[in-house]
Amino acid sequence: MTTYDVAILGATGAVGQELIGILLERDFPIKSLKALASARSAGRILEIGQEKLVVEEVTPESFANVDLAFFMAGATVSRQFAQAAQDRGVVVIDNSSAFRMDPEVPLIVPEINADDLSWHSGLIANPNCSTTIAVMALAPLHAHAGLKRVVVSTYQAVSGIGAAAIDDLHEQVVQYVQGKPINATTFPSPSAAKHYQMLFNLIPHIDAFDEGGYTKEEWKMVRETQKILHDDSIQITATTVRVPVFRSHSESLNVELHKPMTTADARRILEEAPGVKVYDNLAEQEYPMPLLTTDDDRVWIGRIREDFTVPAGLNLWVVGDQIRKGAALNTVQIAEELIKRDLV
Ligand SMILES: NC(=O)c1ccc[n+]([C@@H]2O[C@H](COP(=O)([O-])OP(=O)(O)OC[C@H]3O[C@@H](n4cnc5c(N)ncnc54)[C@H](OP(=O)(O)O)[C@@H]3O)[C@@H](O)[C@H]2O)c1
Repeated sequence: MTTYDVAILGATGAVGQELIGILLERDFPIKSLKALASARSAGRILEIGQEKLVVEEVTPESFANVDLAFFMAGATVSRQFAQAAQDRGVVVIDNSSAFRMDPEVPLIVPEINADDLSWHSGLIANPNCSTTIAVMALAPLHAHAGLKRVVVSTYQAVSGIGAAAIDDLHEQVVQYVQGKPINATTFPSPSAAKHYQMLFNLIPHIDAFDEGGYTKEEWKMVRETQKILHDDSIQITATTVRVPVFRSHSESLNVELHKPMTTADARRILEEAPGVKVYDNLAEQEYPMPLLTTDDDRVWIGRIREDFTVPAGLNLWVVGDQIRKGAALNTVQIAEELIKRDLV
């Protein structure tokens, strides 16, 4: 079996840590593994199965003698090091927003558009976590009846901001229980001009504000969905909201199709789709929730019902672990697909 020299940039972060676990779980064919991060974490020891790995500060030379690099350190760092890695012959799978909309860069969810890997030129983008969770439910419906319009509202977990946000919500819980004032420093994002309490609150502001009063997160859901599904005619509008949940993003999808589809057909189509679990039994009060989907690889779909206000409409409730399928797992699946197709 061929094995690969692998580097993980952002190995100490929420996604990087999950990715290491998934590589081990799935017996990824690793010859050597390099853990890269900033100077802050250089020298830190990571436990990888029985082995210990010392974190190194990333430099362009870190990518010498590497076959495959997973980038999960944010867009600025990706822009800084992607070319250096590619110049050294490395195939980069990038988790940030830096290159997703570049027409030269495939944006991949393997269950949906793995064939787009055939035109990669050393750089492949992993979609935004909310986009991946939505398209896992939307793509099978699109294939059968064509998506005309989608209205998406998200309920996004704090871990979507990274490891520091998980700690911050924990601290807010402790401060509340101890009757202390809540010290808000991370939400809606560490770099925002103002910060709000996350505990017992909802914040309709994910990533920076952009064109038309939408946030960048909302635009990512529009543009990335169209790119993955190869159809710019799909009308999509989004409202993205941070909620005080540690892990797993939830999404309400209101879908208008070109052809009518019964809820029974929608359920059958989704049950047959790879990577999703239909969990929709009203008699037993069963529907997806973040606590059920956390640490699960599948995107769970429930509350499937007709939208009676349009000729061919459906409402769905979709929940998935955004650190796994929304980030680390999807990245590993892309790498596995590259290997299967002999594209590394
Ligand atoms: N969290 C999610 O649910 C999620 C989902 C989809 C995509 N993503 C994307 O995945 C990426 C990582 O997110 P995360 O949630 O894992 O963030 P995180 O927990 O904050 O981790 C960030 C990682 O990047 C490293 N890093 C930061 N600045 C660096 C620099 N200047 N040079 C080298 N390394 C640097 C950090 O290393 P240090 O230890 O040295 O600080 C850490 O390993 C982001 O692009 C994010 O948008 C995240």
